[in-house]
Amino acid sequence: MAEKKMINIALPKGRLGEKVYALLAQAGYPCPELLEDNRKLTFENPEAGVRYFWVKPSDVAVYVERGATDLGIAGKDILLEYSPDVYELLDLNMGKCRMCVAGPKDFVDDPAHTLRVATKFPNIAARHYRAHSREIELIHLNGSIELAPILGLSDVIVDIVETGKTLKENGLGVHEEIVPISARLIANKASFKFKSEAIRELAAKAGEAVAARG
Ligand code: PRP
Repeated sequence: MAEKKMINIALPKGRLGEKVYALLAQAGYPCPELLEDNRKLTFENPEAGVRYFWVKPSDVAVYVERGATDLGIAGKDILLEYSPDVYELLDLNMGKCRMCVAGPKDFVDDPAHTLRVATKFPNIAARHYRAHSREIELIHLNGSIELAPILGLSDVIVDIVETGKTLKENGLGVHEEIVPISARLIANKASFKFKSEAIRELAAKAGEAVAARG
């Protein structure tokens, strides 16, 4: 019976995941083994009723949407880009950055020409320019997006800006902020129904921990 109440959580592997874990441990869901230096991907603490899994950050929403885990922590960028069918329970106020249009500082958009936009986030970019009735050509890249305008592959980029260091060191600047981004606690819809009490309790305690951190 106790087994049924275990909550399975997909943590984004990396620095953000470690910060999120610290928050959940503070909220009453510790699993100290998780921070040991090993290659294990699954951890559990039956007393706390929790299992953790290290998942590639961009895959978290897939695990949660398909019910492989009950909960997960995903960036708002991923939620906006892929629109997974999940519940968004809480803003963790971590992993904060901005989705921006950026490019050469002296770039002037000429409406007479189709704007070439390089990005890892084609849906977010397409939505943004559709809302402005601006015709664009999307160039879908997987990383080092800042190179695209430098090499003339695109006019601008739509990308995440955190410290702004990458843009600065490559002679680029922010043209426009599209949306602020932060990490969110997300839930599988069926899990939220069948493990409602345990999940609501975890979300409430995590919310208190977020508020306590200010
Ligand atoms: C992200 C993003 C920017 C950079 C922004 O890239 O795509 O390139 O971080 O951070 P900053 O404003 O603090 O410089 P990531 O590190 O994920 O690598 P990628 O180029 O492989 O996407």
